[in-house]
Amino acid sequence: MTSTPVLRLSGLTHTYTGGRRRTTVLKDITYEFQRGAFYAVVGPSGSGKTTLLSLSSGLDTPTKGVVAFDGTDLREIGLDRYRNKHAATVFQQYNLLTYMTAAQNITTAMEITGVRTRRKKDRALELLDRVGLDRHQATRNVLQLSGGQQQRVAIARALACDVDILFADEPTGNLDEDTAKGIIDIFQELAHDEHKCVIVVTHSQHLADQADQILNLRKGRMTGAPRS
Ligand SMILES: Nc1ncnc2c1ncn2[C@@H]1O[C@H](COP(=O)(O)OP(=O)(O)OP(=O)(O)O)[C@@H](O)[C@H]1O
Ligand SMILES: [Mg+2]
Repeated sequence: MTSTPVLRLSGLTHTYTGGRRRTTVLKDITYEFQRGAFYAVVGPSGSGKTTLLSLSSGLDTPTKGVVAFDGTDLREIGLDRYRNKHAATVFQQYNLLTYMTAAQNITTAMEITGVRTRRKKDRALELLDRVGLDRHQATRNVLQLSGGQQQRVAIARALACDVDILFADEPTGNLDEDTAKGIIDIFQELAHDEHKCVIVVTHSQHLADQADQILNLRKGRMTGAPRS
């Protein structure tokens, strides 16, 4: 029995237009992502990895083609609803609310996405602990944290929203080897124990090697896995 893929990209093509220049970054990409699996997307800088995440996470709509969640076109679900209920993203630039503490960034995300937990602050501290930040760091303004610590706040924030798909753009880029290993372990647990779909963009061969599937983006095409 084959199950409906949690995320399906069909004939995805994306062109950026700036002035007179048109750049087609993604060309006719078709792929099915399943629940319970951890994917790594690799490719040179500028190959369209962040673009692919933006389209798959409902931040932008493709020039051509369809992104479907559980068999339904995102445009039908509504991009806002999809981002609130089904997909969480750890951005390459973190996108934290810089006037808040680490814990407040997480409780705010829980409120926005409608997480039904009464003890939001405790849950936030628990998640920050899971990514290796102590209570003192959790209650500091995020700008007083190092780059790697901010990156972990962004990861904890994504974990706080109980979604089906977790997207992460270079999530270990600013982490030392041991901390990065801890984060990779969390991604594997999410996929294998909690049956989520985890899709990570990375330049790190080490991270990619831990994934169940490695997808290669080059010249607008995605290869390295059987086309569906
Ligand atoms: N908003 C935009 N407008 C115009 N061009 C863009 C825009 N965003 C990205 N691009 C172009 O699209 C291409 C792919 O960019 P993208 O950010 O997806 O690459 P990437 O693979 O994530 O790179 P990196 O590894 O450096 O993060 C690049 O040539 C970039 O200049
Ligand atoms: Mg990028």
